[in-house]
Amino acid sequence: MAQKNNDEQFKNVISHAKEYGFVFQSSEIYDGLSAVYDYGQLGAELKNNIKTYWWKAMVQMHENIVGIDSAIFMHPKVWKASGHVDGFNDPMIDNKDSKKRYRADQLLENKIDELYAELANFSPENKAKFENFQQEILGLSDEGQASWIPSFKDGSGILENSEYPFIDEPSWRFVKKGLALEVEMNLALKSENLAQLKDLIVDYKVICPISKTSNWTDVRQFNLMFSTQFGAMAEGSDEVYLRPETAQGIFVNFLNVQKSGRMKIPFGIAQIGKAFRNEVIARQFIMRMREFEQMEMQFFVRPGEDKKWFEYWKEARLKWHKALGTAPEKYRYHDHVKLAHYANAATDIEFEFPFGFKEVEGIHSRTDFDLTQHQEFSGKKMQYFDNDLNEDGKPYGNYVPYVIETSIGLDRMFLLTMINAFEEQDLSTEDKQDSRTLLRLHPALAPYKVAVFPLTKKDGLPEKARQIMDELKFDFNCIYEEKDAIGKRYRRQDAVGTPFCITVDHQSLEDNTVTIRHRDSMNQERVAIADLAGIVGKAVSWKTLLA
Ligand code: GAP
Repeated sequence: MAQKNNDEQFKNVISHAKEYGFVFQSSEIYDGLSAVYDYGQLGAELKNNIKTYWWKAMVQMHENIVGIDSAIFMHPKVWKASGHVDGFNDPMIDNKDSKKRYRADQLLENKIDELYAELANFSPENKAKFENFQQEILGLSDEGQASWIPSFKDGSGILENSEYPFIDEPSWRFVKKGLALEVEMNLALKSENLAQLKDLIVDYKVICPISKTSNWTDVRQFNLMFSTQFGAMAEGSDEVYLRPETAQGIFVNFLNVQKSGRMKIPFGIAQIGKAFRNEVIARQFIMRMREFEQMEMQFFVRPGEDKKWFEYWKEARLKWHKALGTAPEKYRYHDHVKLAHYANAATDIEFEFPFGFKEVEGIHSRTDFDLTQHQEFSGKKMQYFDNDLNEDGKPYGNYVPYVIETSIGLDRMFLLTMINAFEEQDLSTEDKQDSRTLLRLHPALAPYKVAVFPLTKKDGLPEKARQIMDELKFDFNCIYEEKDAIGKRYRRQDAVGTPFCITVDHQSLEDNTVTIRHRDSMNQERVAIADLAGIVGKAVSWKTLLA
């Protein structure tokens, strides 16, 4: 039941995001481009505010952290050095007859879609019920998911005796097979079991759309990086990649920034920027995209002090999240047991999304791996001379610094923020049914800080309202609205998270006061126009989050 409510809530957030201009599917008029999204007029504002919150917290509040903006294209050797060319992979398969290459997971996804096509024959009610059930299954642990496979595969089993009404649909046996395959594929991908993926392709009789045969090679790994041709490069080495993380742009600029900024260890370099990954499973709206944005910071420390700084950043980053007022139980750390070869500690900050606890941010202790690799591949020294004195009174001298990385997905943070803020409030009284949809965004993040309304469209009220707006708009993003009844205008602003609505009425013309209405409490108070900037400014100040 809880899962069903969560699914419902998630669907509502997605449609709300579209309806109010936060997020649209990319190229929607051409049926969209899978796992690529555009931010609309309010989405762009919210996204910018999240970026500002991060930049201020990381760069402006730390004297020893500076920000850069490195290019998306980088020398191809960067990705060789970083390990992405050899180790950043997904599974692929070739058809021996057509000589065509496919992603194994996509072939299986097409097969799943084929089996799910039978859902069109379900009654709308049962289709919705099935989709909830499917989400529930996919949200289970690996063992939990695996335990369902037998009953999806054969004609009998627990499911036939269960309370699920959709099993009466004549098409159920196809759909059930689709669900079995979806679960089996996810588990095989997760455990990187390439032989199992091949077995699924064979067992489910997947054929090549060109040759129509099932004469397949084994499944091999395929690199997740997007590549393109770079005209000016020397012959034979003109393939460049769209960066799959922003971090490498920081590593290759380590010495440039350290020298030009006269930075002393410990110090950090931060940046916000696009990253691209040809993801295998790109689902759940903006949770996993093929083009996304990261906010990353690499903190360079003395070898031996890495553990201390790792703990510092782990705590500091969770504090950043919680300052937004999110219920603390919605967050948790997930410490990695199995570490990447270059890391000596790693943790994820996870948030409880409607589909379960998922990673929003990673904090990684990356040792001296990246700088050492770049030193080796570029032939340029990546060392720092530390003239502070050690315990023996001697300078620490030359070394390759160790690195603590904090890496947060901006789009995931955006999704988290929307989910967290979205609320459908029942305002019914004994006399009247009423409700409102509310985005309870922190005022500093809200796209509009102030909405200005003239009570009516006449008697000089619009002019007075415009005057107020013209004064406030230098400091705050404001919106002016005069259409519809005031109540309706309030509701529209509640739905996009505007913390303050200011209404200009006839009294305003006489005594220069207005009513200011607070989004969350819906309380209204009469205040002097001269006090507005102070009231709004205090509530939306970054100080409320950063002090
Ligand atoms: N430099 C380290 C790094 O890139 P990562 O765990 O692969 O580490 C960091 O990514 C963060 O980027 C994740 O915690 C997540 O928030 C975000 N992220 C990664 N892949 C993503 C995708 N396909 N779509 C949206 N966000 C993604």
